Amino acid sequence: MYTTAGKLADLKNRYHEAVTASGETAVAKQHAKGKKTARERIEQLLDPGSFVELDEYVRHRTHAFGMDKSRPYGDAVVTGTGTIHGRQVAVYAQDFTIFGGSLGEVAGEKIIKVMDLALRLGIPIIGMLDSGGARIQEGVVALGKYGEIFRRNTMASGVIPQISIVMGPAAGGAVYSPALTDFVIMVDKTSQMFVTGPDVIKTVTGEDVGMEELGGALTHNKVSGVSHYLASDEDDALDYARALLSFLPDNNLSDSPAYASDVELEITDEDRKLNVVIPDSPNQPYDMTTIIEHIVDGGDFLEVQPLFAPNIIIGFGRVEGRSVGIIANQPSAMAGTLNIEAGEKASRFVRFCDAFNIPILTLVDVPGYLPGTDQEWTGVIRRGAKLLYAYAEATVPLVTVITRKAYGGAYIVMGSKQLGADLNYAWPTAEIAVMGGQGAVNILYRSELKTAEANGEDVAAVRTRLANEYTYNVASPFLAAERGELDGVIEPAATRVIVTKALRTLKTKRASMPPKKHGNIPL
Ligand code: HXC
Repeated sequence: MYTTAGKLADLKNRYHEAVTASGETAVAKQHAKGKKTARERIEQLLDPGSFVELDEYVRHRTHAFGMDKSRPYGDAVVTGTGTIHGRQVAVYAQDFTIFGGSLGEVAGEKIIKVMDLALRLGIPIIGMLDSGGARIQEGVVALGKYGEIFRRNTMASGVIPQISIVMGPAAGGAVYSPALTDFVIMVDKTSQMFVTGPDVIKTVTGEDVGMEELGGALTHNKVSGVSHYLASDEDDALDYARALLSFLPDNNLSDSPAYASDVELEITDEDRKLNVVIPDSPNQPYDMTTIIEHIVDGGDFLEVQPLFAPNIIIGFGRVEGRSVGIIANQPSAMAGTLNIEAGEKASRFVRFCDAFNIPILTLVDVPGYLPGTDQEWTGVIRRGAKLLYAYAEATVPLVTVITRKAYGGAYIVMGSKQLGADLNYAWPTAEIAVMGGQGAVNILYRSELKTAEANGEDVAAVRTRLANEYTYNVASPFLAAERGELDGVIEPAATRVIVTKALRTLKTKRASMPPKKHGNIPL
């Protein structure tokens, strides 16, 4: 014991105790739920053998409720650093097999330490959450640690990418740490997030709702928009996190990783397929994803939040090997109209890209804002303003391509030149005007339509003719090009080449906002 060999043997024993603290029964229980242990998750997320653990010998100091009888090494969270695709990241994984992953004083301190390290080193942090929340035995001390974590999440916002993978319960105020991070991934069926659980809801409001319906992964991906990816299982969640990270820089002062690429700068046969994407009828939908996949390297597009507000698409791709954030209306969902959810989804994405120097490509086909009392009364003015604000304050390269409709306020908000976009293009199929042909004709030609009706003419046919004339003459992209509001009207087939050249051109862009403490984005 007192010899060097004895001390080394002691270290070995203690280390073994630390990494097996969960015990076989708890591990089996975790596996039976379809969940991995904290250590298994970290091993799988990181490059093999790259994990360097921190604080494996930390132990709690609580005596309350007989807690001093069980003081496992490492407490209820595993923390450290490692690499993903060879790049350094910081990680923490809450360990549900120890005190239900609950966060007491020392588990909180471990997370705080690794967050501080990530900030100091300028590396992304990935948290894997699986916890019963604040450790009930530790009371206010546990709450205080959450406060410190939230503060660090906020400090780190816009400085290092923060990704949360929810792999079990995240209950009560604990949900606000993931909510403050950039991306939240949830695992189908085995993760739940809620501020107040089903029992409290039943007591207070009388509502009957199950855990899964209330705060399961599907709910948060489809309904609330809290989560950005619905993983089918833990493997899928970890794969998505790794893929996501490949598009992101280490921090706000570094560039996103650049990958080798041999992009063809001539129009290819594949590019020519874009010439037939837009249907002749303006009311016929098409899938905007096809266009995105034509533009990005290898058709490799990582969509973010695909299930929430599908009328707008956000995600990452690469052009000439470099990351690009893509925002695009989706005509095949709600005709691509903008509503509150779409605006909020897109504005947070614009701000993420801007904070981390990722250029933005905007593809526009938007008939306007979704009309209705529901939208007005739930704050489409206040909440819709976020997207204007986000684009207007963005200083990263902004390239916009209008494929079809760009009407009214929606034209302005979707990366228009007036809001600060650098290079704006339109396809010849673009329609840019205050409103669509049908709406305009009803106002401009009210008396002509009345006369046609009085004369027994086919009013619908007259309306369609006038609307077509209006669209051709007033909404023509060449009018916008004449005034320099577009930088060019381009053949769809040329889009990939032109976007590639535009992003090359904009590489040296320098722009800044006036000095201020911070803006006051409408919230
Ligand atoms: C201490 C906890 C705990 C907690 C779970 N455990 N949550 N210990 N503090 N918050 C312990 C359990 O006692 C149990 O210990 C072990 O973890 C596993 O829990 P089970 O209940 O057996 O697991 P399961 O049936 O899967 O249920 C998981 C659960 C449930 C849904 C998370 O444990 C639960 O409802 N816990 C309480 C959740 C909660 O209300 N937390 C406070 C939220 S408020 P043994 O020894 O039996 O294995 C909050 C405030 C944050 O967090 C504030 C920030 C500002």
